[in-house]
Amino acid sequence: MATVKEHVRERGCLRSRRSRFIAAALVFVAILAIVLPTSIIVTRRKDHNNMGPKAKVFVPLYVYPAPGAWDPLVNVHEPLEIPEPPCERHQPPAKATTVGQRAPVIYRKLQLNAGSRITEHPDVNFTVVVNPGSGPGPNPLPDANYTQEIPRLTAHDNVRVLGYVATTYAKRNISAVRRDIETYANWPTLSGNSSLAVRGIFFDETPQQYNETDFAYLDNLTAVVRNTPGLGPDNFVFHNPGVVPDSRYLSTADSTVVFEATYDTYLERNGARLFEAIPDSDRSQLCAVIHSLPDNVEGSDLREFVKQVRRIADEIFITHLSTNYYASFGNKWDDFVSLMAQ
Ligand SMILES: *[C@@H]1O[C@H](CO)[C@@H](O)[C@H](O)[C@H]1NC(C)=O
Ligand SMILES: *[C@@H]1O[C@H](CO)[C@@H](O)[C@H](O)[C@H]1NC(C)=O
Ligand SMILES: *[C@@H]1O[C@H](CO)[C@@H](O)[C@H](O)[C@H]1NC(C)=O
Ligand SMILES: *[C@@H]1O[C@H](CO)[C@@H](O)[C@H](O)[C@H]1NC(C)=O
Ligand SMILES: *[C@@H]1O[C@H](CO)[C@@H](O)[C@H](O)[C@H]1NC(C)=O
Ligand SMILES: *[C@@H]1O[C@H](CO)[C@@H](O)[C@H](O)[C@H]1NC(C)=O
Repeated sequence: MATVKEHVRERGCLRSRRSRFIAAALVFVAILAIVLPTSIIVTRRKDHNNMGPKAKVFVPLYVYPAPGAWDPLVNVHEPLEIPEPPCERHQPPAKATTVGQRAPVIYRKLQLNAGSRITEHPDVNFTVVVNPGSGPGPNPLPDANYTQEIPRLTAHDNVRVLGYVATTYAKRNISAVRRDIETYANWPTLSGNSSLAVRGIFFDETPQQYNETDFAYLDNLTAVVRNTPGLGPDNFVFHNPGVVPDSRYLSTADSTVVFEATYDTYLERNGARLFEAIPDSDRSQLCAVIHSLPDNVEGSDLREFVKQVRRIADEIFITHLSTNYYASFGNKWDDFVSLMAQ
């Protein structure tokens, strides 16, 4: 009995060795079968993921910094502190995060999309225009909400904050423009907080047609920005004619918004060609602001669109909002930022 048992055990052992070998071979083949096509798919997907040149996220942040209002942009509150809503599966998706909206639904949205903001994307550069009151506002320092929130933006190396200044197509009194620039430049010294600072000026409503007087006006302002230490280290000059200006203006700025209109207008004017046809320019000087995207431009359509715009402009703002598009974050803001990060 014992020998038989031994024999059986031996055979069983043998059989199990053989079957282990067969099993191992099968597993190996199975792994190959899974890994090979997957790696091909991954490689293909990588090609497909190629979004072309990186571009900066341009943000006209004309949102009043009520506590929490800038959260979709910068991670102010740690995600861990975000309370869970009682019944997450049945929460409706959060719509636009607007000033004053601080419902738990939005906390949830922020947590779900925790990968979509400045803090989560150190490899994406953000240009953020602050506008306390159609410029720096009437006082030497902006109000306490601004002095609290702006340092949270400037704390990040991938953020360049610019101060909004109106020029009214070079018709605004240039002394008043210079005073606005000075006001921004004095923020860090006056507040004693080096983080309450801008690194350049966003000149709104700059002219389109060439005019010697207007050119001298802008050229003077560029020199002022360049020579003002309080706007360093970038001393960046941004122009916003909103359309393609005379090319002589392009050289007086570091970057220019050459398109500021709806998605439909972009398509009508064949935006991509419009950009490529700008004389004496390269994409590093160009900014595109495209709003009113239809809601159905999402997923792969949104991806293709962002990819196309990245090819022609180095600074991009894209939103689905069709009213007050600079006063809040649209419901696909996170998608846009994620596509800019790829
Ligand atoms: C982001 O900014 C850094 C610092 O200015 C710069 O070195 C880098 O090239 C920028 N990257 C992109 C994609 O613009
Ligand atoms: C900051 O914003 C809140 C919410 O809008 C407002 O109630 C408060 O008065 C503001 N603080 C200052 C100093 O303006
Ligand atoms: C600047 O202000 C911010 C916001 O109030 C604060 O967190 C930071 O500590 C301040 N930095 C300095 C150097 O005072
Ligand atoms: C601009 O405003 C100042 C006063 O702030 C005035 O002295 C000057 O004449 C004005 N310049 C023009 C061109 O209107
Ligand atoms: C240029 O602008 C100045 C000042 O705005 C204006 O007086 C002048 O007529 C303009 N010249 C031309 C050729 O349009
Ligand atoms: C700008 O123009 C004013 C005269 O309007 C002049 O005093 C000043 O030196 C100019 N600044 C620069 C930097 O060119």
